[in-house]
Amino acid sequence: MSYLEVKGLTKVYGGNDETKVVALDHVSFNVEKGEFVAIVGASGSGKSTLLSLLGGVDSATFGSVVLDGEDVHSMKAKQRAEFRRRKIGFIFQEYNLIPVLNVEENIEIPVRLDGVRMKEENMTKLLIMLGLEERRYHMPEELSGGQKQRVAIGRAYAHHPALILADEPTGNLDKATGMEIMTLLRNSARKFSQTMILVTHDESIAAMADRIITISDGKIVSDEVIRNAVSEE
Ligand SMILES: Nc1ncnc2c1ncn2[C@@H]1O[C@H](COP(=O)(O)OP(=O)(O)OP(=O)(O)O)[C@@H](O)[C@H]1O
Ligand SMILES: [Mg+2]
Repeated sequence: MSYLEVKGLTKVYGGNDETKVVALDHVSFNVEKGEFVAIVGASGSGKSTLLSLLGGVDSATFGSVVLDGEDVHSMKAKQRAEFRRRKIGFIFQEYNLIPVLNVEENIEIPVRLDGVRMKEENMTKLLIMLGLEERRYHMPEELSGGQKQRVAIGRAYAHHPALILADEPTGNLDKATGMEIMTLLRNSARKFSQTMILVTHDESIAAMADRIITISDGKIVSDEVIRNAVSEE
């Protein structure tokens, strides 16, 4: 059994024939633990829809997502929200930081939602890894785009989720900063044996993955392993 098993995943938006959009059309694939997969495809091809279904943020019209042996879409809402918080880290293009919380507080959100606090020493280690130790008490509006994205990554990593779902995480950044963020993501994913599924339209970013899945009109049109996830160390 694979770490992530996606079967016949389909998402139809809109109720009537005029507004109906088949955003995802019977998509099936498996992902092994520790694999780094890039999802590429044209605008509107269904990439973000796929990520939101993988993370159980939105419900599927048909099909199933089994993550670490658990069927994400058959869980009740509350159970699913908790499962998601424990197992999955989300990173978005728009960072989605809470403006009234400082860097440290933003990073700690998912941990706090579980009713615990991060150990001082773990927070310091994480801030150093992110290169944010000098920005610990700054507010989001006082940060550059790259720094904001590093805070968002810190938040996604704070509780070491086994799966990271990232939607165009470098989309708002210049090339050099984007590469820096990608290196950070790759290194930490390796360090914590995390599985990563990342949506990008940038070929050089996709080339950093182990495998590239291309979608077009809601269907997988190619699925290519470009390097062996396990043997490369
Ligand atoms: N909430 C929604 N209601 C109706 N249609 C939607 C909704 N969200 C997405 N769609 C449609 O589903 C299709 C896939 O959208 P999706 O956002 O998954 O594309 P994408 O590949 O992420 O595109 P982009 O690269 O522009 O972010 C599009 O045709 C879009 O118009
Ligand atoms: Mg999108």
